[in-house]
Amino acid sequence: MKTQVAIIGGGPSGLLLSQLLHTVGISSIVLERKTKDYVLGRIRAGVLEQGMVNLMRRAGVSERMDAEGYVHNGTVISNADELIELNFTKLTGTPVLVYGQTEVTRDLYEAREKAGGQIEFEVEDVVIHDAKTDAPYLTYTVHGEERRIDCDYVAGCDGFHGVSRQTIPDDVRQEFEKVYPFGWLGILSETPPVHHELIYSNSPHGFALCSMRNANLSRYYVQVPLTDKVEEWSDDRFWGELKKRIPAEVAEKLVTGPSIEKSIAPLRSFVTEPMSWGRLFLCGDAAHIVPPTGAKGLNTAASDIHYLFEALKAHYLEGDDSGIEGYSEKALLRVWKAERFSWWMTNLLHRFPDQGPFDIKMQQAELNFLRDNEDAQKVLAQNYVGLPY
Ligand code: FAD
Ligand code: DHB
Repeated sequence: MKTQVAIIGGGPSGLLLSQLLHTVGISSIVLERKTKDYVLGRIRAGVLEQGMVNLMRRAGVSERMDAEGYVHNGTVISNADELIELNFTKLTGTPVLVYGQTEVTRDLYEAREKAGGQIEFEVEDVVIHDAKTDAPYLTYTVHGEERRIDCDYVAGCDGFHGVSRQTIPDDVRQEFEKVYPFGWLGILSETPPVHHELIYSNSPHGFALCSMRNANLSRYYVQVPLTDKVEEWSDDRFWGELKKRIPAEVAEKLVTGPSIEKSIAPLRSFVTEPMSWGRLFLCGDAAHIVPPTGAKGLNTAASDIHYLFEALKAHYLEGDDSGIEGYSEKALLRVWKAERFSWWMTNLLHRFPDQGPFDIKMQQAELNFLRDNEDAQKVLAQNYVGLPY
């Protein structure tokens, strides 16, 4: 097979790129290791920055998002029983949208299928060849049958465990990593959200987050030691722990019910440099991971896709290669700012095993400063709603 852009990975990054390229007549083929149902069954991010919302609109896949997404003008940060209310729209002029990654992915699959887009599922053994030449190609197998795609460019959108990043030789690739000594235990439950806005909670019992998907679907998280197993967390134990970690006036209103999904995600900060090598470009989790505090994972994948899409468009439509040559540098500049914000939010709100009384005083001072200082609130709000592309 032949295509202009071969895309490895059918998560939000790969699908969004494929759909955007389609709108300007650039061909692509998406290769996905899992089945569509598997990809759609993963419960992940829930908050979209305006930049991501605009990209979905640009890609022509915003109808359901615009109808069903919830505009959130702010969020709450709680410090034990105290609520610090931040109004993003007042502070920055921009709200965020609550619309799950599952729904984003579903809308993108539907659009690609409607447009006759080529997506191959259950591919194995993808290998990128000759990325440093003008004629790169991919080989892979589907149900035991060997296949090949010749292309102009390869987009590595295959997440943290993909093959794309590893294709860049060790003596070129630099990796920066911080692994945190805890994970997030998350549950989804068919109960009304406890509050109309998200609550990020710092408490003596550890971090908790109250989020939502819709009026009768709540998403809650609590920080847990990395050694904990999901099986050790009954629903009752989860609800009990969550109640201890959120302000008493909020806990009183919490409606509990059976969980319909429960999983633990480890927390990690990770960046690989450069984000391109010859005709291979890395996007999203293939190039970087953030801890989820601050909701930057999916949104940072989206800004990569924006830069790569603009670069490919300029190449094919205007013969201008400056975007392609500058992709890695441009993307990394924004990636590192998202890394900084996620790392800062994580440090502000979690309990660390080696944290002493002094460190806790520092957290408290920072939270009090945030409560009392509108400039500090503005800095948080600007980062949360998303830095400009
Ligand atoms: P992915 O969504 O990982 O998609 C990559 C795709 O490539 C996958 O479908 C995978 O099957 C496929 N693939 C992998 N290897 C190959 C291969 N060799 N060949 C072909 N296909 C391949 N972000 C938040 O903001 N909030 C959250 O609450 C949140 N929770 C998360 C929980 C978990 C468990 C994880 C892993 C991530 C979470 N994130 C969260 C991060 C967010 O979901 C990611 O940033 C986002 O999914 C990135 O999209 P992506 O398309 O780049 O990568
Ligand atoms: C959700 C996840 C996040 O990491 C976050 O910061 C906000 C919301 C969520 O899954 O709803």
